[in-house]
Amino acid sequence: MATKLWEKNFTPTAEIERFTVGRDRELDTYLAESDVMGSMAHITMLESIGLLTADELKLLLAELRNILQEIRQGQFVIEEGVEDVHSEVELLLTRRLGDVGKKIHSGRSRNDQVLVDLKLWTRRQLREVVELVKVLFDELQAQSEKYKNVLMPGYTHLQVAMPSSFGLWFGAYAESLTDDMLFLQAAYKMVNRNPLGSAAGYGSSFPLNRQMTTDLLGFDSMDYNVVYAQMGRGKMERNVAFALASVAGTIAKLAFDACLFNSQNFAFVKLPNECTTGSSIMPHKKNPDVFELTRAKCNKLQALPQQIMLIMNNLPSGYFRDLQIIKEVFLPAFAELKDCLQMTAYIINKMQVNDHILDDPRYDLMFSVEEVNRLAANGMPFRDAYKKVGLDIEAGQFTPVKEVHHTHEGSIGNLCTAEVATLMDNVLNGFSFEKVEEAERKLTMGS
Ligand code: ARG
Repeated sequence: MATKLWEKNFTPTAEIERFTVGRDRELDTYLAESDVMGSMAHITMLESIGLLTADELKLLLAELRNILQEIRQGQFVIEEGVEDVHSEVELLLTRRLGDVGKKIHSGRSRNDQVLVDLKLWTRRQLREVVELVKVLFDELQAQSEKYKNVLMPGYTHLQVAMPSSFGLWFGAYAESLTDDMLFLQAAYKMVNRNPLGSAAGYGSSFPLNRQMTTDLLGFDSMDYNVVYAQMGRGKMERNVAFALASVAGTIAKLAFDACLFNSQNFAFVKLPNECTTGSSIMPHKKNPDVFELTRAKCNKLQALPQQIMLIMNNLPSGYFRDLQIIKEVFLPAFAELKDCLQMTAYIINKMQVNDHILDDPRYDLMFSVEEVNRLAANGMPFRDAYKKVGLDIEAGQFTPVKEVHHTHEGSIGNLCTAEVATLMDNVLNGFSFEKVEEAERKLTMGS
């Protein structure tokens, strides 16, 4: 059995080891690349303050680059008996380079290591989420423009209410994503601050150059106060989870609409056969399982902030092992949301709309307000017009004119697609992906 980083003259029993390591060997693998990057920045800084020689740094950086390569090729595992990714990387360095490997941990703790790993990893994940949200946004806007003249009923209380359109329906979800994007950006900005150097949560007596690691890792700034940096564990994940939940909320609602509208009783939209699934007993079935699964997964994702909160909310300041458990719910959430975003964009693109919905007389009454407005525009007081149309309807004498003339911003006839695209672009311009990418490239390639 490999020894622990902290092993002195006793070892915990196998049961204690099993329980405390928990699922870290699996979950820390997510963080492996980030852990190596954090170490590269840390040791570059250690050399600059005289805690490593230039030769030692060169050796260590070269070996960390090898380890990074192995991680990217899928050859990295956290070995049996090794507690976590931080221990594994240090173990590999020591095994391959000897005593110099043991020097890298000066001025840091696994507490700030896992903090910086989580931030680097989450920063990358958020970028991917942002990019996929943008893909879905573009798809929804394209469908909105394509079907802007196709009317459909709008509902309140799930009762036929007023004319709506596919332009409005698709466009509404696109615009919803612009607000979600604001949350993603706030989350990204919080994530993009450097906790490294806070060590166990109280800093170090070594003259660490935290600005240097901040720059090397491409962070906007640092989490300055070392106690606050440690308090960010759990808070960061919770805030990011709120942003993910906001996106998930948009997709879940879209999925529910799509399931409803795809039902034969509505028949507003149709999925091509190859986007549906069948039944083992009913030969006619073409089920919208993709939307049902995205609905369920995205509803589940909306519980993520609560799950994280219940783990971390009642902890005092300072590190606790409780925080380790957050990884179990937080890390896998990204793949799930990204998959849902991808599948939603894929299927929205293939969705066919019914442009004859209004031929069905059951929707005739949704034009009642149009008729009231016509009378009112011609001079009849609104309340009188309302009453007249109401009485006509009751007497079975209402014949709808199935035309609408909505002109104000955001209405059927004036979707403001370009304005909504500008809203989205303005948020997107506030991310700094290129700066981060450049810093990470420089740090890991050494140029
Ligand atoms: N696996 C631990 C976690 O995720 C790493 C930090 C360990 N720190 C400690 N003081 N035991 O929190």
